[in-house]
Amino acid sequence: MIEILLADIPDPGAKAFVLETAGGEKIGGFVVRIGPIIRAYVNSCPHTGAPLNWQEDRFLDFTQTEVICTLHGARFTPASGQCTLGPCKGKHLTPLSFEISHGKIIVRPLS
Ligand code: FES
Repeated sequence: MIEILLADIPDPGAKAFVLETAGGEKIGGFVVRIGPIIRAYVNSCPHTGAPLNWQEDRFLDFTQTEVICTLHGARFTPASGQCTLGPCKGKHLTPLSFEISHGKIIVRPLS
């Protein structure tokens, strides 16, 4: 489980984190926030499995409306994680479950 202060995530913007599973495995993830849309995903592109970002917390394209994979430019809809453009078109980012409580986003590990 990891807690991220909502106030630490720009709107629009994103925040990277590392989540530790019950088995001790470390998984990179990120929270994306665009207005009322807040989602958490594993930081792994469905094209090759590579991390989406080259710079920490930079997951949005220049319009700040889509998640982008910086390796080959795939675009993802923030609300659904679906790839709409690029080599993995039609595939999805892996969502992480989370809750928002007392100004924090609490992300749970994959089961
Ligand atoms: S690794 Fe993401 S588009 Fe190729």
